[in-house]
Amino acid sequence: MTAVGIDAMEIWTGKLKLDLAETFAAEKGEDPEKYTKGLGLFASSFPDAHEDIVTMGANAAHRLMERKGLTPADIGRIDVATESAFDNSKPVSTYIAGCLEQVYEEDFHHANKGERKFACIAGTQSLDDAYNWIRAGRNRGRSALVVATDTALYARGDPGEATQGAGAVAMLVTEDPDLVELSTEQGYGSADETDFLKPNQQFPSVDGKRSMQVYLARMREALEDFESVAGDTHPDDFAFIPYHTPFPGMVRKAGLLGYRHMIRGTEVEDELADEIGRQPREEEFDDRESYEEAIRGYMDDLKSTDQYREWYAEVVEPTLSISREVGNWYTGSVHIARAAALQYAAEEDRDVTGDRLLVGSYGSGAQAEIHAETIQEGWREEVDALNVDEQIRNRYDISFEEYEQVHDRHNHDKSVELAAFTEPDGEFVFAGRGAMDERTYDYVE
Ligand code: HMG
Repeated sequence: MTAVGIDAMEIWTGKLKLDLAETFAAEKGEDPEKYTKGLGLFASSFPDAHEDIVTMGANAAHRLMERKGLTPADIGRIDVATESAFDNSKPVSTYIAGCLEQVYEEDFHHANKGERKFACIAGTQSLDDAYNWIRAGRNRGRSALVVATDTALYARGDPGEATQGAGAVAMLVTEDPDLVELSTEQGYGSADETDFLKPNQQFPSVDGKRSMQVYLARMREALEDFESVAGDTHPDDFAFIPYHTPFPGMVRKAGLLGYRHMIRGTEVEDELADEIGRQPREEEFDDRESYEEAIRGYMDDLKSTDQYREWYAEVVEPTLSISREVGNWYTGSVHIARAAALQYAAEEDRDVTGDRLLVGSYGSGAQAEIHAETIQEGWREEVDALNVDEQIRNRYDISFEEYEQVHDRHNHDKSVELAAFTEPDGEFVFAGRGAMDERTYDYVE
C-alpha cells in the first residue's frame, strides 16, 4: 500500500509575546514558578492587531506552497480546523483560499473546502479527512492542504488565562510523504463531556481541574483502543510521543500515565519491582477507592525512578520546546509538539528515519485519538526548513497594559481600534470589514 502522510509543514506564530514570569505573574502578584515550573510555560503568543486566524493560517499555507513550489492546481482540498471561527456558515478555508488567490495566478475553484470542529482534536481529524480522501483514490493526483489555526483566548481573570496562545500550522498531505507516514491503525476514547465548551460565546466555559481528568481518561481509552488493533505498546517502541499540549504540565501527567500502562506486564515492570513493587491490580483490592489510592502511590514512586525519568527526558520532554514559548494553540498544539520533537532530533544529529512516533491528540467535549507515524527519509530537510525559532525570537514583547489592549482588540464583543506593534513584511493582513460584515484581507509585500 502506498504511504500517505504529511509531506511538509509550516508554522506561523502570532507576532506578539506575553512573558508569563516577567509580565503576567508580576502583574498578578504570583510566584513566576507557578507558570514556568507548575504549568511549564514561559510565554504566550498573541496575534498582532492586523492578525487573526485567517492571516495566520494563510501565511503558514503560503510559506508552505512557496517552499514546496506548489500552485493552486496542485491542491485538491483545503481543510481548516479551528475552534476560533467568527462565522457560523462561511468556512475559514474560503477566506484562506481567497487570500492565497491574491498571490497566485490560478484559483482554487476546483478545491473542496471545509471547516472541522471538535475543540483541539479537529486538527488531527482534518488530517484524517485528507488521509481518507487520498486513500479512497479521490484526489486525482492532487495533495490536501490542512490548516490548524486558533486564537486561544480565555476571559480575563479565568484560570486558563495563563495558557493562552495563537498560531497556525499548515500541513501538506500527500502520497509518498517526505516527513511522516500515518498509520492506518487508530484508537479512540470519546464521551459526552462538559469540561470545556463555548456555547455561542468566544471565550470558553471551563472546569479546569475536571478537564485534566477528562483528558487523561479519554487518552487512556484511546491507547487501549489503539492497542486492540495495533498490538501492545512498549516504551522502547517510539522515538517520541507528541501529545496535545494545552500546557507542558498536562503532558507531564499524560506521559506518566502512558508509561505506567505500557510497562504493565513487561520486563520493565519486573526490573522496577525491587525498587517500587509491582503495579497494583484491581482484582487484589476490595473496592475501587483503595485500588485508586494504591495506584496513586505507585505513580508517585514511578515518577522518581531513573528508568522513567530517562525515558521521559528522551521521548516526551523534547516535544514541549515550542509549546513552552507559545502556549496553547488548540488545533495546532499536537502538531507543534511533533515539530519540536523532530527539531530536537535534528539538533542532536540523530538519524530517526524509520523510527516511529506515537501521537496523542485530544479535544475537550471530549475525544482522544492515538495513531502511530513513521518518520520518512526526507524529514531532515523538512525540519531544517522550519523558521519557527526565528519567529519566536522576533515577536514583540508586550507590556501588561498592551496585553489588555490586545485582548480587547481580539474580543468579538468589543470593537477596539489598535495600531499594530509590528510591521507586516510579505504577509496577509486583516484589512477591515466589507458590506456584509465579512472580513477582508490584503497582502502586504
Ligand atoms: P490553576 O488552578 O490556576 O493552577 O490553573 P494550579 O494551582 O492547579 O497550579 C498549576 C500547577 O502549578 C500545579 O501543578 C501546581 O502544583 C503548580 P500540579 O500539582 O497539577 O502538578 N504550582 C507551582 N509549581 C511551582 N511553584 C509554584 C507553584 N504554584 C502552583 N509556586 C488549570 C490550572 C489547568 C486548571 C488552568 O490553567 C485552566 O483552567 N486551564 C484551561 C483548561 C486546560 O488547559 N485544561 C487542560 C486539559 S483539557 C485540554 O487540553 C483541552 C483544551 O486544549 C481545549 C480544547 O480541547 O479545545 C484546553
